[in-house]
Amino acid sequence: MASRFIFFLIVLLPFFACQTGTKQADEKADGLTPPASSTAIAKDPVYVKGLALVGKSDCLTCHKIDDKLIGPSYKEIANKYAGAPNDVVTALARTIIQGGSGNWGNVPMTPHPSISQEDAETMVRYILTLN
Ligand code: HEC
Repeated sequence: MASRFIFFLIVLLPFFACQTGTKQADEKADGLTPPASSTAIAKDPVYVKGLALVGKSDCLTCHKIDDKLIGPSYKEIANKYAGAPNDVVTALARTIIQGGSGNWGNVPMTPHPSISQEDAETMVRYILTLN
């Protein structure tokens, strides 16, 4: 009886732990659902609003949070500009509105003229929380 219990602890618990780990990774990979471990950040109004704006626009056809698609992943963008002065938010928002190329390669990002500077800045602030 006792040995069964030990078997459960040693073999099954890590198995279940791995299962949960995979599930979190999957949730993250869809590009919209925050990982369960970041509930604090998920309540941050900038995060929530930026995520909603990015979800409403066409961003996710070219960008994913973790992996490069047509554009760089949001994590790569967040890492590149981590610690940059605050006006990088203004500049990146302008890039979203006007389109851009040359910073990550030769594939251009299409312009988004219907997005306001304010909304674009919220999107950038959201992206920069992802590093
Ligand atoms: C047609 C594909 C496409 C769409 C749609 C798109 N992007 Fe991009 N994005 C790119 C590419 C490609 C780059 C890299 C451009 C470069 O090399 O400078 C990029 C770069 C960026 C950068 C970094 C810019 C820099 O100068 O470092 C940000 C921030 C960004 N995108 C945010 C967004 C947001 C927010 C949206 C939605 C409103 C969006 N993108 C929609 C393709 C796209």
